[in-house]
Order: sequence, then C-alpha cells, then structure tokens
Amino acid sequence: MKKMEAYLKCIRCGKEYDLGQVRYTCDCGGTLDLKRDFDGVDGMELKDLWEKRWGARSGSAMSGVWRYKELVFDLPDDKIVTRMEGNTRMYPAGKAGKYAGLKNFLLKHEGENPTGSFKDRGMTCGATAAKFYNATTVACASTGNTSASMASYAACSGMKSLIFIPEGKIAYGKLAQALAFGGRTLQIKGNFDDAMTLVQEVCAKLNIYLLNSINPFRIEGQKAICFEILQQLNWQVPDWFVIPGGNLGNNSALSKALEELYTLGIINKKPRIAVIQAAGAAPLVKMWKEHTPFEPVKNPETIATAIKIGNPVSYEKSLRGLKWSNGVVESVTEQEIMDAKAMVDAAGIGAEPASCCSVAGAKKLVEAGVIDPEATVVGILTGNILKDPDAVIGYHQDTLGKLGIKGTYANKPTVIEPDLEAVKAAVFAD
Ligand code: F0G
Repeated sequence: MKKMEAYLKCIRCGKEYDLGQVRYTCDCGGTLDLKRDFDGVDGMELKDLWEKRWGARSGSAMSGVWRYKELVFDLPDDKIVTRMEGNTRMYPAGKAGKYAGLKNFLLKHEGENPTGSFKDRGMTCGATAAKFYNATTVACASTGNTSASMASYAACSGMKSLIFIPEGKIAYGKLAQALAFGGRTLQIKGNFDDAMTLVQEVCAKLNIYLLNSINPFRIEGQKAICFEILQQLNWQVPDWFVIPGGNLGNNSALSKALEELYTLGIINKKPRIAVIQAAGAAPLVKMWKEHTPFEPVKNPETIATAIKIGNPVSYEKSLRGLKWSNGVVESVTEQEIMDAKAMVDAAGIGAEPASCCSVAGAKKLVEAGVIDPEATVVGILTGNILKDPDAVIGYHQDTLGKLGIKGTYANKPTVIEPDLEAVKAAVFAD
C-alpha cells in the first residue's frame, strides 16, 4: 500500500500548509482539513487491508480508529497513543425504533468507548499528534466529555492536561472523570463559548497543544466512527445518518469520512446526513432554515449540556458536509430530547441526553415526511447513560418541571417497609 502524504488545507481559502509546525487555523481564520493525495491509491486494496485487520489481536489494529490508520494518521505503532478505542456495538433500536417510526433503525453506541463517549476516537489521534509535535501539556475547553477523554489520554501518555469548563454547567460524571484522571481543571465563570475563546488564547500564548475539535487531527480520528459503521454493515451504505450537533466537529468528521470513501470508490452511494441540535442551542438550524449568515446564539440553554454551545467552531465544515450529502438540519425541544432518551433507555441501550437528539430528530424527520419509515437509518449515540445521572433521576422522579420537562415515561421508585405485604401492595395492588 502506497503511503499517502498528508498536509493541511484551509477549507475557506484553499491555502496549504505542511505538517512541519503546529497549526489549527489558516492565516485567513478558516479551519483546516487534513488532506491526502489519493492519486494511485487503490480503494479496494485499502478496504481489503482493513478487512484483514478486523478482530486483530495485537498492535494498533486492535483499535477501532487505528485499524483505518491510512485515512487517520499513518504512523508506526510505537508513535501511537491508544486505549484501543472504538469497536463499539451497533444495536437494533428496539423500542426507540418503534418510537421514531422506523423499521430499520440502528444505534451506534459511541458511549461504549473507554471514557464513555465518541471523543476517545478523536482524542487518540489528537494525543498522538501532541506527541508528534513533542507537546508536554495539552488543553481543551469542554462541556465535559472532551475533558474526560483528554485527561485520560494525557494521563496514559505522560502529558499534563489543562481543562477549561463552564462553571457548574457540566454533568457530574464528566467532571468526576476529569478530576480523577488528573486534569488541572479550571471552572470558567462563563459558558462553553467563553471557555473556547479563552483556551485558544492560552494555547497560542503559552505554547500548549490545543485538543478541541478545531484541531484537524481530532476530526481525522472521529472519522473512524463512520469507517467502523460501514465495516459493520459490510460496506452497505445506509440511507441516513442522524447525529447530534454541538461544536459541529463530529458531523464534519462523518461527512469527511464518507466523502473520502466515495472518492476512493469504497462506497458508491451518498447517504444523507441529518444534524440535530437542541432548540435552545441551535445556531446551525437558524442559519440553515432562514438562509441567513452564521450568527452565534448568545445564551445557549439545554438539559443536554454536552451540546449547550452557541458559537460552534466547525460550522463551515459542517455546512460543507451537509451540502455534499444533501443533508438536513433540525432542532428538537427539551421534552423531545428527554422522551427520546427515555425510549433509548427503556430499550435497554441507554445514553446521555445529547446523544438522544439522534432519536428525537429521527422521529421528527419521519413525521415530517423527510425520512421514509422504510429507510435504513443509523443514529449515533454519542455518550454513555452514566455520564449524567442527574438528568435520568430528574426525569424519572418527575422533578424537571422547572425546566419545563415532564416525566412522560417516568419509572418512579417507591419507598416501602421491608416486608412481603408491602411488596405485594406496591407491586401487585392493581
Ligand atoms: N454528544 C455528546 C455526548 C457530546 O459530548 C458532544 C460534544 C456532542 C454530542 C456534539 O458533538 O461538538 O462534535 O458537534 N461535546 C463537546 C465536549 C463539545 O466538550 O465534550 P460536536
């Protein structure tokens, strides 16, 4: 297999940079893509190589990211920082499928990654890039999952991690992970967007390696969600992918992966992508539906704290992918998110609130006649159910009224005396 040389290219003005020095954005301010020269690359040969690596028992090929390293970051194994991420399951949606009105609905559970979210796919590549550039400290702004993941990969590879999170606004499971993995955690008196602005300044001025998804290597790792889904489907392309959108890195990675597979002839159909945002944090939806220039949302608000973002850094990449895939953008309400989550949970699968935008969004798009009920749809569940236990308990105790959320499908616990009669009365009374 011919090694493809990688370089950076601005998605706005097209300017190119080699990988010789650290760069996250172009001189013009645009975001950067990692590009490769596909000339003379045989897509079928690449696919065969990935097939041979499936189920590998040694080396980086055991990772569901590095299995595809030719299109991620082609380095020798001893240069790779990995926790053998990926290899996540894809479930028939069960009750959640019925709820969405879909016959062929699959849920790819990225919450089954080592730190419980899809971020590990980007982080293994980002941490590897940090080492590639001889960084000793890495930093990110986060709504929680990126910081949990970064702290873990930094700890594994002997780097320090510096975390900027919005004070009091991230789910407990995520904060717990960041602290436990030894991340130096700074709680910003402001929201995620303020933290994102600050971390970019800190990294530029203090020579710290930035591991938000504005870092093009993060996107390369996240592409592996798509590669793995397609491999699990025997390279049969679904009709739709439905994916939550926050900072908009993940859907940008998905469309980049699809476009590359399509260019290489590994797939020959373009699936459609639906990006779903929470109604209180939906700048992309506003722009898309009202055909207006991008404008940040000032005070984003949603119970899906992972995607409580008003000024997503990757909106241009996201738009490019949506156009390529003839995609759509939709928003879902707090109630729709939590009811969809109740269905994902009741199906025995479980995921954190932001993840369930995929199911809430699919349902809405089926009802609107955009997605055909017979279509094959893959929804991405981005984070583990245990990340945000407060949201689960609040819904099932029906105490989220102050947020305007009803426990429609609440499964309330009952307090009883410790005797048989009390059990009978509580369980078999009616
Ligand atoms: N779902 C979960 C569980 C997330 O943690 C995130 C992003 C998203 C969806 C949205 O992905 O930003 O690529 O559009 N979380 C980031 C963080 C922002 O800091 O953990 P996106």
